[in-house]
Amino acid sequence: MAKPRAPKKTNKRPAAKKSLGHGTKLKVGLVGFGTVGSSVAKIICQDADGPLQLTHIFNRNIERKKIDGLPTHIRWTSKIHEVLSSDVDVVVELIGGIDPSGRWVRQALRSGKSVVTANKLLVSESGPELVDLARKMGKRFEFGASVAGGIPAVIGIQEGLAGDRLHRIAGILNGTCNFILTEMEAHERSFETALKEAQARGYAEADPSSDVDGIDARAKLVILTQAGLRLRVRSEQIPCRSISLIAAVDFMYARELKCAIRQISVAQKNTSQGVRLAAAVQPALVPEDSLVAHAHGSENLVMATGEFAGRMVFSGYGAGGDPTAVAVISDLYTIARTAGAPPEALPGAAEVPDSVSGDFTVPHYLRFTVRDRPGIVASLATILAKYGISIDALLQKPGFPHSALSFVMTLEACDSAVLNRALEEIARLDFHVERPLCLPIFVD
Ligand SMILES: NC(=O)c1ccc[n+]([C@@H]2O[C@H](COP(=O)([O-])OP(=O)(O)OC[C@H]3O[C@@H](n4cnc5c(N)ncnc54)[C@H](OP(=O)(O)O)[C@@H]3O)[C@@H](O)[C@H]2O)c1
Repeated sequence: MAKPRAPKKTNKRPAAKKSLGHGTKLKVGLVGFGTVGSSVAKIICQDADGPLQLTHIFNRNIERKKIDGLPTHIRWTSKIHEVLSSDVDVVVELIGGIDPSGRWVRQALRSGKSVVTANKLLVSESGPELVDLARKMGKRFEFGASVAGGIPAVIGIQEGLAGDRLHRIAGILNGTCNFILTEMEAHERSFETALKEAQARGYAEADPSSDVDGIDARAKLVILTQAGLRLRVRSEQIPCRSISLIAAVDFMYARELKCAIRQISVAQKNTSQGVRLAAAVQPALVPEDSLVAHAHGSENLVMATGEFAGRMVFSGYGAGGDPTAVAVISDLYTIARTAGAPPEALPGAAEVPDSVSGDFTVPHYLRFTVRDRPGIVASLATILAKYGISIDALLQKPGFPHSALSFVMTLEACDSAVLNRALEEIARLDFHVERPLCLPIFVD
């Protein structure tokens, strides 16, 4: 008798269920019951006839988290394995940070569950790997809430604009910084006073460094670069500068130049000689009639520019429990609609760029604070000329003391790497009271 043939091995991913079936709900396990987690629970449970069923809520010390009003069948637990070894279809990770969240997300995917997260740190560090793992398991990894909270920027860029070839993503990705800068602008406040106001209103943490130093916005820029420009880049490759460098005097001079000051995140892809990425997060001058200048308070704004459709804009007040929960629920609906099957087309990042720099060829704003004496402007102009950099305008408001006189130079478009070398030389001159401030001027 002929031996039965062993089944052929294939590299096909496990077949995903094609549909949850009429009346079958997507079972959801919530990991993290804080600001966003509690909003997600509330919204799911308010829609008893909807396609989602919340079955587990996990948090450390769960007893103090329990609230009334949620269905009694929900299992409240402080044991993560109760969620990971349960029959939930989707784990929603809302604890934040890299560990243990990353470990638990991987475990959930490996055990055949889809995952939804709002965790920008985790997605910026491991997004492509987690998308690949989910695809291998025939499941989905969704992260629409990780950038701009409830504003559908990730999904809009990744899926809505998939038919374009995007080459630039820019905007305001941190509401805390935008609140502080617009507060300084509107009320002529110092950075310190505006920060205190942001903290008092709950927009800024007690330790605001991740926001004001650009770390938070940089993680979101990495995610948008992967989603829209299809480039894999690590956070530490993207330079970021703090908005704490900005003083009230800069708003006075910016107004003279018909500009505003905003924390701008930009990623620009150039394919003329290999694949090059210019990306940075930093305070910058923008024309006061530009879209970014019109983003006030804690508003976010994302602009994506493509070869065919031109510029598209997503904006709004995205952050906070309820708006961010909206993005999480939208991702859950996508999973319910597709029965957890991974997307057919490969979105997300594919290519590693040949080079990444923070250099942009744009006009610049320089603010000097000096002990006044004759010849200062001449010595600055001499060094700038040595590097081939042209001065556009010089502004000096009256009323500063001679011991600390602040004046401003604007420069015609020049490469920021070349300008930085000139500024290193300029910083060694002996008349500075503080280090010169250099800001790019972004015109679109
Ligand atoms: N809030 C927003 O506006 C917003 C917007 C966009 C994205 N996000 C992202 O959404 C995620 C959640 O943010 P959130 O504002 O909801 O944070 P949150 O209010 O601090 O909630 C986090 C929850 O997770 C719990 N938790 C943290 N580490 C844990 C651990 N190791 N084991 C068990 N439980 C743990 C915390 O418990 P304790 O109470 O004991 O600390 C807390 O209940 C983050 O990734 C954040 O970046 C938030």
